[in-house]
Amino acid sequence: MGLLVVENLSVGYEKMEIVSGVNFTVEKEEIFVIVGPNGSGKSTLLKGLFGLVRIFGGRVILGGRDITHLPPYKRSLLGLSYLPQLGNTFESLTVWENLVLAAHDLPRDEFTGRLENVLEILPDIKRFMNRKVHTLSGGERQMLALAMGLLRNPFLLMMDEPTAALSPKLASRVFQQVLELRKNHGLSILLVEQNALKALEIGDKALLLVSGQPKFYGPAQDLLKSEELARLYLGV
Ligand SMILES: Nc1ncnc2c1ncn2[C@@H]1O[C@H](COP(=O)(O)OP(=O)(O)O)[C@@H](O)[C@H]1O
Ligand SMILES: [Mg+2]
Repeated sequence: MGLLVVENLSVGYEKMEIVSGVNFTVEKEEIFVIVGPNGSGKSTLLKGLFGLVRIFGGRVILGGRDITHLPPYKRSLLGLSYLPQLGNTFESLTVWENLVLAAHDLPRDEFTGRLENVLEILPDIKRFMNRKVHTLSGGERQMLALAMGLLRNPFLLMMDEPTAALSPKLASRVFQQVLELRKNHGLSILLVEQNALKALEIGDKALLLVSGQPKFYGPAQDLLKSEELARLYLGV
């Protein structure tokens, strides 16, 4: 059985179903990529997996447990971490204060140990620990968002367009980081990306979402090789 199993899932907002009938499985230590044109429902689907939007049907199973109707904080305690597209940082607070807030419900002694681990993975954060978030560059912000997610000690990390605001060079570093998190820490990663080509290159499996409908699900390489899908939907 997969780490995350999504069965016939439909999600949306209030009266409007946006994403319909999605099926996929993420295995342990897998990089799973979700791609598709703007407005196709990628962010809505991730929010659905984290319990932030309305479920119209289907099931979400994490580690064998049905989490379809659990609130976000319980999913977080079960090892699921979610980095939203527009960041979840507090602009007027420092990096340090944001990290404390991200872990506010952890026991204090546990926080210290976890922060040490996170700073081993992302040592650059020490350089701007005392700066306010609104003074950070796009790359530094992304690093902070990642650190806040990792503080929760997840085994499945969901990232919504982590490279969107970054230069190509910084974007490459994010992709490199994703590979290292898998290799060195055994994490599984669910990555939503507009930079489809790069993401599919590092991905194991992929889902292509178009107007809320799954158009492809399978090995990421197969999607890259499918000239028609890549040309029509991914601008490749
Ligand atoms: N809070 C919301 N309430 C209602 N509709 C929304 C909301 N957020 C997004 N949508 C709609 O859901 C659709 C999919 O959006 P989104 O999931 O952000 O797509 P993507 O991430 O693929 O660009 C869009 O038509 C968008 O207008
Ligand atoms: Mg989006």
